[in-house]
Amino acid sequence: MRKIIAANWKMNKTRPMAAEFAGQLAMALKEGTPEGRLALVFPPFTDIAAVADAFAGINNLAVGGQNFYPAEKGAFTGEISCAMLRDAGANWLLAGHSERRHVFGETDGLIAQKTAFGLEQGFKVMLCVGETLEERNNNQLNGVLQRQLSSAIQPLANGILSKSPDQIAVAYEPVWAIGTGKVAGPDEIREAHAAARKILSDLLGNSYANSVPLLYGGSVNAKNAGSIIALDNVDGLLVGGASLEAPSFLDILRA
Ligand code: PGA
Repeated sequence: MRKIIAANWKMNKTRPMAAEFAGQLAMALKEGTPEGRLALVFPPFTDIAAVADAFAGINNLAVGGQNFYPAEKGAFTGEISCAMLRDAGANWLLAGHSERRHVFGETDGLIAQKTAFGLEQGFKVMLCVGETLEERNNNQLNGVLQRQLSSAIQPLANGILSKSPDQIAVAYEPVWAIGTGKVAGPDEIREAHAAARKILSDLLGNSYANSVPLLYGGSVNAKNAGSIIALDNVDGLLVGGASLEAPSFLDILRA
């Protein structure tokens, strides 16, 4: 399976800054991304078109939306639709990121609705899951993964997901590792990824579950990326802070 190296810019970069980054990336990767790697950038909405324009025509470079509302259009002040994101050049979506869950109060129910809607609109969806420190300390890792994965995926297992494999990816991002500099250790990543893969197998069947890319995110940087991506069951990285500078993101992509 090709490995996905994803950049989540969160609420960073104006349009000129985004265009400069995307230009540097496009220049560095004009002969293609490293073998077997997809580079995926989730910019703020106002930057998507600039990034997509810079990436046009280069294989294995893709753009996604950090957020969206699960309705075609209408009276949803402040929200953005899948059609708008597609028009700007995005073909991936993030759902369930810990900041959406914990800062903006998105529930498992809303995340399930968003996952279903995004897939139905023909996007690839990266569903993010992960436990807080308190949940980890209370031995709730498995329970949290079970709840977050099954609420979003179970309703789709015999529907849209059975019709369109390759549309979903899962990112395991322990909340305590996001933006803290405290990257999860290899044993913690192995344990969580094995648990997530088992839950996916129960929901989707073995062969399907094995084809779902399972990414790790949380304080990934150019120094630790190589050892994490080499772990069994790690099919990619979702990178926040260290993805904001093109040289650092390129180092991670090449790790
Ligand atoms: P971080 O963020 O790499 O800054 O920890 C990861 C994420 O939020 O996806």
